[in-house]
Amino acid sequence: MIDKINSLLTEISEAKISNSGELEMFRIRFLSKKGLISDLFEEFRNIPPSDKKVLGQKLNMLKQTALEKYNFLRSNLAEAGSGSISGDLTRPAFPYFPGTRHPISIVRNEIISIFSRIGFTVSEGPEIEDDDHVFTKLNFAPEHPARDMQDTFYISRISEEDSSPDDILLRTHTSSVQVRVMQKQKPPIRTISPGRVFRNEAISARAHCIFHQVEGLYIDENVSFADLRQTLLFFAREMYGKDTRIRLRPSYFPFTEPSAEMDVNCTICGGKGCNVCKYTGWLEVLGCGMVHPAVLEACDIDSRKYTGFAFGMGIERPAMLKYQVNDLRLYFENDIRFLQQFSSAF
Ligand code: DAH
Repeated sequence: MIDKINSLLTEISEAKISNSGELEMFRIRFLSKKGLISDLFEEFRNIPPSDKKVLGQKLNMLKQTALEKYNFLRSNLAEAGSGSISGDLTRPAFPYFPGTRHPISIVRNEIISIFSRIGFTVSEGPEIEDDDHVFTKLNFAPEHPARDMQDTFYISRISEEDSSPDDILLRTHTSSVQVRVMQKQKPPIRTISPGRVFRNEAISARAHCIFHQVEGLYIDENVSFADLRQTLLFFAREMYGKDTRIRLRPSYFPFTEPSAEMDVNCTICGGKGCNVCKYTGWLEVLGCGMVHPAVLEACDIDSRKYTGFAFGMGIERPAMLKYQVNDLRLYFENDIRFLQQFSSAF
C-alpha cells in the first residue's frame, strides 16, 4: 500500500492540466467517491492495526496533497481566463470584408488631393443656410428664379411673396461657403469647399434632389483670368489624364463676371462623338469665372485692391464617368453589392 501511495503522490505532483475538462478528470481520478484515494481508504480498513498509524498518516497526507493540487490547478485555470484553447484550430477563419469608401468620397478626396497640391485648403459650411449666404451676398437679384420654391427647399420663409435674406433653406450650391470664408478671412484666400447640396428636383437616373459639389475660391492681388485657366487646366490633366484638353465657353452666373463653363474632351470616345458627350466630343465639367466685385464688396473685401476667381463642379457626374455608372440613384441607395465594388487609395 505504501508503494501505491507513493506512486499516486508522484502522479499528483506531476499532473498538468490545460482546460476545465482535464481539471474535472483530475478530480474524478483522485478525489471523487469512486476515485483512487477513496479506494485506498477502503483498503485501509483491512490492514493490520500495527501498520495503521503510519499508513493512516501517509494516506491523509496523500488526500491533503491531492486537494491542494486540485485547488492550485483550479485557480491557475481561472486566472488564465477561459484557460482553454477550444475548437478546431485548423478551421478556416471567418471571411473578413474590409469596408470600401463610397465612390463619391473617393472622387471628392481625389479632387481635394489635386487642389491641395497647389496650395488650396479645405473649408466647409452649413448645409442648412440662410438666403443671405446662398443668394443675396452672391449677387442674386431678389426675383431670381433660383430662389423660387420650385428649385429651393425652404425650411422657413419670412414672407410667402418675397424672399428675405433671413429665410432659412437647404443650400442649393456650395458657393455659400465662399461667402462664409470671405467674411471671416481676408485675402490671400485659396480654398475649396466640398459638400452636399439640395435642389427641389424630380429624382431620375440623371438628377437627384441631393448631390455633391466642390467649390473653389482664389482671392489675392492681381489674380487674372489666365490664372483661372491654368489652375483649371492643371486640375483637368490631373483628374482626367495628362493629354486632356479643356475649353472655356462664355456663360452667366450672378456671382462671377465674366463667367464661363469648362468642358474637357470626351475621354470615352476620344472626341469622335458618343452618346455620353451627346456627339459633341466635349463633356461639361464645371462653372467658373472672376468673382463679381459686388460679391467682394458684400463680404467687405476691397474690390479695387483684390480680384479673384471661383469655380464650382458636381461630383456625381465625374464619378459616373470614372466608374461607368449609368444611374445616379445607385449612389444613394446604399446597396452593399454596389458599394463593395469600389476600392481606392483615396
Ligand atoms: N454654384 C454654381 C452651381 O451650383 C456653380 C458655380 C459656377 C460655382 C460658377 C462657381 C462659379 O464658383 O464661379 O451651378
